[in-house]
Amino acid sequence: MDSEVYKKACEVASPRGTEPVSRTPGPCAIQIPGPCGLVIFGASGDLTKRKILPSVYRLQKNRLLPEQFFILGTGRTEMSTDQFRGEVLSAVRNAFPKDFDESSWNELANRLDYCPIEYAVQETYAQSLKERLLQLEKKHKTEGNRIFYLAIPPTLYENVISNLGRTGLSREEGGYTHVVIEKPFGRDLDSARKLNRIVRNSFDEKQVYRIDHFLALETIQNILMLRFANSIFEPLWNRNYIDHIQITASETLGVEQRAGYYEQAGVLRDMFQNHMFQLLALTAMEPPVAFRAEPVRDEKVQVFNSIKPFPRDRLRDYVAIGQYGAGKIGLSSVPGYREEKGISAKSVTPTFAAMKVLIDNWRWNGVPFYLRSGKRLSRRRTEISIHFKPVPHLMFSNTLNEPIEPNRLVLRVHPDEGMSLLLQTKNPGSKICLNPISMDFWYQRNVLMDAYEWVLLNCMHDDQLLFVREDGVEQAWALLTPVIERLESTTAVDQFPNYAAGSSGPEDADLLMRREGREWTPL
Ligand code: BG6
Repeated sequence: MDSEVYKKACEVASPRGTEPVSRTPGPCAIQIPGPCGLVIFGASGDLTKRKILPSVYRLQKNRLLPEQFFILGTGRTEMSTDQFRGEVLSAVRNAFPKDFDESSWNELANRLDYCPIEYAVQETYAQSLKERLLQLEKKHKTEGNRIFYLAIPPTLYENVISNLGRTGLSREEGGYTHVVIEKPFGRDLDSARKLNRIVRNSFDEKQVYRIDHFLALETIQNILMLRFANSIFEPLWNRNYIDHIQITASETLGVEQRAGYYEQAGVLRDMFQNHMFQLLALTAMEPPVAFRAEPVRDEKVQVFNSIKPFPRDRLRDYVAIGQYGAGKIGLSSVPGYREEKGISAKSVTPTFAAMKVLIDNWRWNGVPFYLRSGKRLSRRRTEISIHFKPVPHLMFSNTLNEPIEPNRLVLRVHPDEGMSLLLQTKNPGSKICLNPISMDFWYQRNVLMDAYEWVLLNCMHDDQLLFVREDGVEQAWALLTPVIERLESTTAVDQFPNYAAGSSGPEDADLLMRREGREWTPL
């Protein structure tokens, strides 16, 4: 679509009647949420600076925040509100070096406040935090609507959640009270169940917003629209027409500064239990009765319930893992995983996994879903690729020497957000010359909202659709925990590294496909 036309179609009237904001198509104007106070635990932490605050700033700049709104930052760090404002300012400037708007910042700055807290000490919640919160709620007239955002390490979840419960801060009195919990949500089935119990002691499930930021990406939200707002796909979306599905999330980045966390997690906990399984669920689910949180989440959980458990004795037929060695990303040489800072020289933590998932239900019987994700691969790419079956009879076989490539629908999440459909067409000229062409759709970069903007907006709108429910988390862990445990107990030190940084992953991943006569789409 021509960019001006698209921009026009995207205009959203500003709530204050000033200039329009180009964000989403006209009929889909984003609603400004009602009054709200956002309390961020871990306010001086990395997540707050890299994701949450820049997203709040963007919402402010695009006038998507309510008039009655404040942020109360809290954490162990002793600092004044002015110091906190200074920290937020540098975080925002860092995030938008070329796109910093002084007046939006000033509006936001006036709504920022800070109070220190000792996470484990109940009195500091009852006194400092509660008192400050009540003052701010009065000042900003937020009608008791509160969001507690836990941007803290998971080891602190129990303290904070329990103390919010014990001091009555988790109760809904007049307004709503929501708690936002980041991944990782547990590290196996038992710890996820335990954490769910702790959460349940202080909050009702309808107050709980478990984040999987992939779900909030526009292109992932688009999967449901594409599948259920178009009648042409649904008749084909099953075992009769689909040969197999590939879901890829490859990264060029390595472990970066997260050695401590990543050594304990590895790619299966870090990417599969959450992001990859969520993509799988959205692709495989049955049509929900309504586009609302509960029906959508019910259907996703049904997918998890239908996944065939992985056979422990033949795991290698279903799962391939790898760890990167030294190599080149583009022109730069990069170290292997074991040479990264904070990583053990004998680490057996996988940084890559490929997996075959079978779904035992009417729609998907016999259609494998192949999932792969890894760090330090040749390209950054997240996509879902639907591989249709070949045509049943090749009437061109007398003139064509090669089989023709079956149709493929690719939903691109990163980069080049959009989708493409691979078709066969006749080349002009010779009598029979087939040419694969790709019908492409790209989103315009500047109309996409960041995942964290959506997370915040949806949480303020009381909408849990983009968040993971208790049973969804547990079911995903139930499937993966035995796999992870088995791999952890059987992987030998000399198995790794088994792929070079900058490659497309280990040989075993290719074998997983080749054994079944298939190939990964090149990265
Ligand atoms: C995070 C993982 O959840 O997702 C990271 O912990 C990973 O290891 C990241 O790099 C990928 O997300 P995105 O949005 O950067 O592609």
